[in-house]
Amino acid sequence: MTAGRLIYVRLRNIRYLTRGEAIEIIRTVKEMQARSDSLRRNGKKIVLVPTMGFLHEGHISLIRKGRELGDDLAVSIFVNPAQFAPEEDFDSYPRGFWKDCQMTEKAGVNAIFAPDARELYAQGFQTYIRLEKLPMHLCGLSRPVFFRGVATVVSKLFNIVKPHTAIFGEKDFQQLQVIRQMVKDLNFDIEIMGGPIVREPDGLAMSSRNTYLTPEQRVQALCLYQSLKKAQERVISGVTDASDIIKEASAFILSHSQAVIDYAAVCDPETLEDVKRIDKPVIMALAVKIGKTRLIDNMMLGSEK
Ligand code: PAF
Repeated sequence: MTAGRLIYVRLRNIRYLTRGEAIEIIRTVKEMQARSDSLRRNGKKIVLVPTMGFLHEGHISLIRKGRELGDDLAVSIFVNPAQFAPEEDFDSYPRGFWKDCQMTEKAGVNAIFAPDARELYAQGFQTYIRLEKLPMHLCGLSRPVFFRGVATVVSKLFNIVKPHTAIFGEKDFQQLQVIRQMVKDLNFDIEIMGGPIVREPDGLAMSSRNTYLTPEQRVQALCLYQSLKKAQERVISGVTDASDIIKEASAFILSHSQAVIDYAAVCDPETLEDVKRIDKPVIMALAVKIGKTRLIDNMMLGSEK
């Protein structure tokens, strides 16, 4: 076998064989559950990194963290139709399965769970998970079906992959809070961990959707990070009025010709409720459309982070 080259053969599932190691690519719920049951019987600790694929360094940093935390590392790749509204970008969402396989292989993943939509949402599917309060803020306001879809698919992935630990990126801060709350409320016996935002060298938060940006929009997209950084400096310098911080950030963002603000908020990191006075660590969260591409970013204000 050529060292470091991917060779794949057909077994019951497709396997990549690389340097004598194998990544299992599993397409069905039954096979994934059987694999996890067997690992658990053998006392192995399973870590899951759920993704929608088109992986970038942000995902890889979560995968690396997962590699250190368990014996078996599974990544799910599934563009979940239930979290997209009809007018959103489900059809055009970037996909690149074989490149994802290569990247996960290099990062030491043991199994990829990549079902198709019919496998997860069979004819007649009708059970969804809806949180009462957290989705009433931030992204939940302009994406009303999003968190119902996320909570539903993540709970299904938990029942299928049966991880001991699951890792999610902090760029989707509200999503992470929703999942933590769901795990607590529904008594999932799973540890939820967050991984820090990974940024491009100029500060743009990594996102699969960055690929939609034209070169000019890519430059304008920096306004999210720059306004968060500025807000952080203002809080360090003693500003405590959240509305001043929001006004300043909004004016800066709107000085970019292609930027339209969905929200700019300063909120409590747990409840996501708006905060008026910054006298403890708060989250500043942004959702901004640059042209047609909706980008999110966030930063902790009032702490070292
Ligand atoms: O963050 C994502 O990629 C998705 O929302 C998730 C958590 C994989 C659920 O589809």
